[in-house]
Amino acid sequence: MSEQLYNNEVAFELQTKVIDETRQGETLTAERPKSVKANGKKFYIESYGCQMNFADSEVVASILAGAGFDSTTEFMDADLILLNTCAIRENAEQRIRFRLQHFRGVKKRKKGALVGVLGCMAERLKEKFLEEEKIVDIVAGPDAYRSLPDLIEEAGSGQKAVNVLLSREETYAEINPVRLNSNGITAFISIMRGCDNMCAFCVVPFTRGRERSRDWQSIIAEAKELYEQGYREVTLLGQNVDSYRYSTDPTLVGKKLLEAKYDDSVVNFAQLLEKVALVAPDLRVRFSTSHPKDMTDDVLHMMAKYHNICKYVHLPVQSGNSHILEMMNRTYDRAWYIQRIEAIKRIVPEAAISTDIISGFCSETEEEHQDTVSMMEYVKYTLAYMFVYSERPGTLAAKKYKDDVPEEVKKRRLQEIVDIHRIHSLESNKQDVGKVFEVLIEGISARNDMELYGRNTQNKVIVFPKGDLKTGTYANVLVTSCTSGTLIGRVES
Ligand code: SAH
Ligand code: SF4
Ligand code: F3S
Repeated sequence: MSEQLYNNEVAFELQTKVIDETRQGETLTAERPKSVKANGKKFYIESYGCQMNFADSEVVASILAGAGFDSTTEFMDADLILLNTCAIRENAEQRIRFRLQHFRGVKKRKKGALVGVLGCMAERLKEKFLEEEKIVDIVAGPDAYRSLPDLIEEAGSGQKAVNVLLSREETYAEINPVRLNSNGITAFISIMRGCDNMCAFCVVPFTRGRERSRDWQSIIAEAKELYEQGYREVTLLGQNVDSYRYSTDPTLVGKKLLEAKYDDSVVNFAQLLEKVALVAPDLRVRFSTSHPKDMTDDVLHMMAKYHNICKYVHLPVQSGNSHILEMMNRTYDRAWYIQRIEAIKRIVPEAAISTDIISGFCSETEEEHQDTVSMMEYVKYTLAYMFVYSERPGTLAAKKYKDDVPEEVKKRRLQEIVDIHRIHSLESNKQDVGKVFEVLIEGISARNDMELYGRNTQNKVIVFPKGDLKTGTYANVLVTSCTSGTLIGRVES
């Protein structure tokens, strides 16, 4: 698929840091701990896909730094080039294959340089990756990163090295992710891995394995440490954060765990949110992603109770039509989704709501598509990630249904929802003009270095003149104008 189509596919450029598969090709550096002896080798890592993949790259960098590697942001200098890959749509994979070609020169110039692929596409293709892309030396799936130093050694001795074992336990709980490329203000904390839902279109359960929650105490410790380092916002990450459930009792599994009484040894998502909110009143807490079938009123009440839990819910609808939702195996219907939206509006009235939508899923008719449009009209999302359906090998949909909506119809429907969304976000932003928001200042605006940017609790980006304000502090900003993507304002004295 062409880059052009890809650009069409993405509704809004990344201005916020919610999970966004459109991020691509970013690299990061890591400092080797002083206690670790250098092995004289440099690694380069490039990340694609969702925020969870980016968070994993921080874990990988930490593991490699601990093994004596130094890092570089120039792949030409690297002894080890890693691509942390995404498999969510076909064009995500095509982008990786295309990128791999760029590394040929390095391998020619530098004897012994290795290329490794990590992440979801590595897990999906397994050994096949080595056959299909000769340039690849190492294939490591998302649960195999602790074995990377061994895999590198193996590959260094001339053999191809593969570890794509998925785990039921791995959460990398105690590995301190490196955060050197961050803005020092906002950070992501993975609270769980994997996914037990089987949405018919989705490759994630196959690439990330079974759902498992991370020990809540390690999550709180990470949040505290970030706060002490000056961070003022954490986003708790998981494919389905509402099903977070951690027990220190190893005998509590499955149904028993679901039925267990909550206390410090059994913690659900609402309680985890509260614990993170209590780390410090000026540490903002966000989370992503909520699944409509699991999002409870308890979570919403917790959001309402704490000022520092941001009033923003990412609630992917995928389709507004109950029949399509059933085919997608989303396990909720239109009425259920609407009832969840009503709960948000009732319990957290100031909350902004965002979504993901897939256009042109198998057999989708024009009327069914119109149900998605009417859902958008009803909710008026402040942010939406919209995609054309892309069949993924091995998924339920690929096995059961025909990918029969013609490409041009998918694209036309996508364009229609993108246009509608733009109107909604502009409308919503216009309603904010004249209001004052508490903004966490994240950095200097990319367009104008005399301006700062930050976000309000609703996750909207606001830019405003710098004055003598500092990043990492809060300011009350009066919104004076807007575009469909950004609010523009000035600080209230
Ligand atoms: N766990 C999240 C979504 C993770 S994937 C959830 O349940 O909502 C992010 C988004 O990619 C999905 O919400 C969906 O809109 C989109 N997506 C996933 N598989 C896709 C496919 N095969 N084709 C097109 N879009 C897809
Ligand atoms: Fe994929 Fe569904 Fe799991 Fe989200 S909840 S990761 S869409 S299977
Ligand atoms: Fe994320 Fe892409 Fe994997 S969206 S979970 S990196 S398939």
